[in-house]
Amino acid sequence: MEMPSEPPSGDRWAEAAPALLMNLRVLSPHQIELAKLLLSEGQSHLFSHWSDPGVEDERKINLFEQVARLNRSYPGGLAAYIRNARRLLADSKSGANPFDGFTPSVPSGEVLTFGDDNFMNLEEIGLKEVRRAAFILVAGGLGERLGYKGIKLSLPREITTGSCFLKHYVDSILTLEEASNRLVEDEERKKIPLVIMTSDDTHQATIHLLESNFYFGMEPTQVVLVKQEKVACLQDNDASLALDPADKYKIQTKPHGHGDVHALLYSSGLLKRWQKEGLKWVLFFQDTNGLLFKAIPASLGVSASRGYHVNSLAVPRKAKEAIGGITRLTHTDGRTMVINVEYNQLDPLLRASGYIDGDANSETGFSPYPGNINQLILEIEPYVQEVSKTHGAIAEFVNPKYKDSTKTSFKSSTRLECMMQDYPKTLPPSARVGFTVIDTWLAYAPVKNNPGDAAMVPKGNPYHSATSGEMAIYRANCLILRKAGVQVADPVIKSFNNQEVEVWPRVTWRSKWGPTFSEVKKKVRGECSITQKSTLVIDGRDVYLEGLSLDGSLLVSAVDGAEVRVGGSFHNKGWNLEHVDYRDEAISEELRIRGFRFERLEQVKMNYPEPGSYSLKP
Ligand code: UTP
Repeated sequence: MEMPSEPPSGDRWAEAAPALLMNLRVLSPHQIELAKLLLSEGQSHLFSHWSDPGVEDERKINLFEQVARLNRSYPGGLAAYIRNARRLLADSKSGANPFDGFTPSVPSGEVLTFGDDNFMNLEEIGLKEVRRAAFILVAGGLGERLGYKGIKLSLPREITTGSCFLKHYVDSILTLEEASNRLVEDEERKKIPLVIMTSDDTHQATIHLLESNFYFGMEPTQVVLVKQEKVACLQDNDASLALDPADKYKIQTKPHGHGDVHALLYSSGLLKRWQKEGLKWVLFFQDTNGLLFKAIPASLGVSASRGYHVNSLAVPRKAKEAIGGITRLTHTDGRTMVINVEYNQLDPLLRASGYIDGDANSETGFSPYPGNINQLILEIEPYVQEVSKTHGAIAEFVNPKYKDSTKTSFKSSTRLECMMQDYPKTLPPSARVGFTVIDTWLAYAPVKNNPGDAAMVPKGNPYHSATSGEMAIYRANCLILRKAGVQVADPVIKSFNNQEVEVWPRVTWRSKWGPTFSEVKKKVRGECSITQKSTLVIDGRDVYLEGLSLDGSLLVSAVDGAEVRVGGSFHNKGWNLEHVDYRDEAISEELRIRGFRFERLEQVKMNYPEPGSYSLKP
């Protein structure tokens, strides 16, 4: 614990907090030390209402137990938190420009074209590497914008199969593990660790989801949960800690942001352990991006072939689009960093640096500053070196809502926040920080917004809703199949929950069927076609489409080793997409938030539970 610089003397205790002084015998010696720390950091108001000893003593002890937790969970303890808060609040009040002295320029990175030789080559490199990776899923967010009653990880990624996001993530990791180990059969098989960062808002529900599904096939020891703590709220520019309006013996707390993940990986000892075990990569991802794993092998291939210490995954970004841009910043003092700059800061920063058009599209039709999607790939060696110095602390920011332009008081309490993508801010100039741009259709379709808000999104901006998140999966799968030579019908435009989306044939497959594009290509033989009304579900590694002509619904599942060749003309009524009104409470929330469901009119459904060689024909 960091000790206060100036512990108050007995007299000053009496002066600063007479009510606390009266209660000293209620507290343990360690709690008294914490009390001194709070007093020397100007927090005497926390005790001004304290009752006499003997009254509400348990609540006083509870408060100090909370203080101990807050002190423990912040790098440098509460004193550091309060001092950082004072500095950042002062900067915010004076309107300090965080980019003062910095000039922006275009960083260097790799722009991928799906399906070309370079892409497939990088996928192969990535696949070899992935057995030495750990995956980190940040899933502590409240999901207020989506407003779903459960945790976001439990939401179906798409309703054709109904598989939830977490199942898909575990499946994808196990698929990569299997495929990667197969490439180096003479070496020891590796298990890919999955760490899930939770918070009090998501922890129990995440455990329940894992346990009630037998960890979705992963070994329970392969999954580690680390829980982030909330941080203390601040009620004024002096960084006075705020008491909970509902409980005056409790400090009000709010989430600190996903940047906590770095401190938790450091303090849990996981990073050092992985380093010893020979792991090389740490991949960070978020709770509801159902496409991401399609981009993982190639992006990891970029990290490995370019020797990137930090690789930020990005998508092409139109100038001024509402998504942060990855930018190189060079300071007058020589410091440089490649970092996410929020879109509302990028344009003014460019203008202030002499780019008269600000954030403008280049000849490619896109901004030269690609859009950050907050999925990071870090090389473990330099990562461990860095967090050993910083203990994983990440540059923070504060965003108080002031009552008026004097900026002297807040509308409601605020707190410090941090974002995982700000990790490169503290790196030395020698660090190799780059990015990988992947098409949005292939890599990014998060589910963040509720139907009402999504419908209000300005035209041209992505909805980021359950509706668009699901339709993006069908689109990606159809585009991949097209690239592999399948004739896939064009999409139609439909509106669900007042959002216009492209509706492609509903094609889904288990990760193990097509973890890379070259694997998909191997599974498609002869002339295949899929009509607009079709639904195709492939749940098996060794399923081959051989001259398949599909006009209707076809669901095939097969155990590993059951080689199923699916061919010929399948024609049936298929599944109808029915509208669902998001206000109709008789319908499940999972369906309402996407605005549609399936009416299963007719289908062919086949299951192959035993290994062998099979042919499926109409
Ligand atoms: P989001 O931007 O989706 O935020 O977080 P959110 O907090 O989940 O949702 P809103 O803003 O309340 O609507 C991006 C990712 O970071 C995780 C989320 O779970 C998501 O995977 N996250 C966010 C954390 O792990 N911890 C946090 O404190 C905040």
